[in-house]
This record gives sequence, C-alpha cells and structure tokens, in this order.
Amino acid sequence: MAGNWKMYKTPQETATFFERFTPLAQGWEKCDIAFFPPAIDIPEAVAATRGTNIGIGGQNIYWSKEGAFTGEISADMLVAAGATWVLIGHSERRHVVASETDADVLKKTQAALSAGLKPIVCVGEKLDEHKAGKTNEVLVKQFAAGVAGLTEEQFKEVVIAYEPVWAIGTGQTATPEIAAGAHRLIRQEAEKRFGSDAAQQLRILYGGSVKPDNIQGLMKEDQLDGTLVGGASLDPDSFIKIVHGA
Ligand code: 13P
Repeated sequence: MAGNWKMYKTPQETATFFERFTPLAQGWEKCDIAFFPPAIDIPEAVAATRGTNIGIGGQNIYWSKEGAFTGEISADMLVAAGATWVLIGHSERRHVVASETDADVLKKTQAALSAGLKPIVCVGEKLDEHKAGKTNEVLVKQFAAGVAGLTEEQFKEVVIAYEPVWAIGTGQTATPEIAAGAHRLIRQEAEKRFGSDAAQQLRILYGGSVKPDNIQGLMKEDQLDGTLVGGASLDPDSFIKIVHGA
C-alpha cells in the first residue's frame, strides 16, 4: 500500500504526519507500506519512520549517477538519503510536468535497480485512449518499451502500478472489473516475457481515486495486490483506513 504525496507537504508537515501515522501503523505486517514524499521531505520522512515497517521512496530519478542535470536527483542520492523505493514514469511525469517516454522509463528503472532501489513502474491510458477502447494497446506498448527490456533478475524486484489517467484525482475510480482486466493484461504480458512464475509473483498496484470507501471493493479482486494512493494518502487517518480496509 503506497502513498504518493505528489507536490504536497513541507518537511515540518511531513514530521507532523508521521507523528500521527507511525503509531497507527505500528506492528502492521499484512502488507508493505511506503510513502513517496517530495524529495526535500525525504530525510524528515526517513528519520520519522526509522525502525518501523514503513518504507520511503522518491517520486522520480534521473538515470545518470551525477552530472550537469539541473533539477534532477540520482538513484544513489535517494539511497544516500535513506530511501528504498522510487516511482518511475508516473503519468504526471509522462504527461504534465515532463514528457517522459517509455524509453526514459526503462533507463530510470534500470538505474533504480542498479542502485538497489525498488521501483514502482507506473503505466496507464489517458482519457481519450480509454474512450477509444485503446487501453490494452497502450498497456502492451508501455510494457514492451518500458519494462520488457529488463533482465529476469531485474524484473523480480519491480512493482507495477496501473493508474488510468482518467481516474487520477478525478474521483472517478476505475471499477474493480476494469482494474482487474487491466492487471490481467499486464500479468499476461509479464508471463510472455518473463515466464509464469515471475508473472504470478509480480505485484500490481491500482491507482486512481482510491479512498477508504472504495478500497474493499477494489481489493476483492485477486488481480489487485495493493494500491497507489494520491490525495487520500495525505491524511494519516484516511490512509490507515485504506491500509486496514485492504
Ligand atoms: P489520486 O489517488 O489522488 O487519484 O492519485 C492517484 C495517483 O496518481 C497516485 O500515484
């Protein structure tokens, strides 16, 4: 169960969040819990969750180790700050704040894995693609160009998040059936490339307007291994309800 904070919260607000959230999650071992705060909050988040079952990750990396890349951070820098996870290819990076391509996603995922970070690779179709019935086509292409180039060893460390762009921040959650259908397709692509064991073990998260009141319906689907939550992860009480609900 992962919380993507996007561009919300200062370091002080991060500390306040974990003062409340960490005791609520104490001893919870039924799933992994990870948060993805803005990069500037990571040291605060790592310090606040040390010795707990809560992991911290970055929202993005650049694939080089270092260099003249203004505004970017490397996988090694995240590791040095205590992060263990990273989001790769979030739709807001693909379509809003940058124009990340599937080729970029592959390079970033490889860089994350080389540094020892666990990547959550985000895929999903836009509204026009959804309306045009192109969801499967988009997912197949994103998998082929963004993920299939990994080695079998690398793929074992990867989590995939299916986040239909039309469901993000809109309150229009995908139905459990739509989400499960997309997950099934992703798993089939994984099976073709990496074999059935790898496909069965692959964790696929759903993201897009996940809330305390729809988590149970979604998680009833066997295909869903967890969720990547935006807005509802900003409030400790709401996110713990989602964790417990799942
Ligand atoms: P919302 O939960 O706010 O729709 O955001 C989903 C998301 O983009 C998580 O990465």
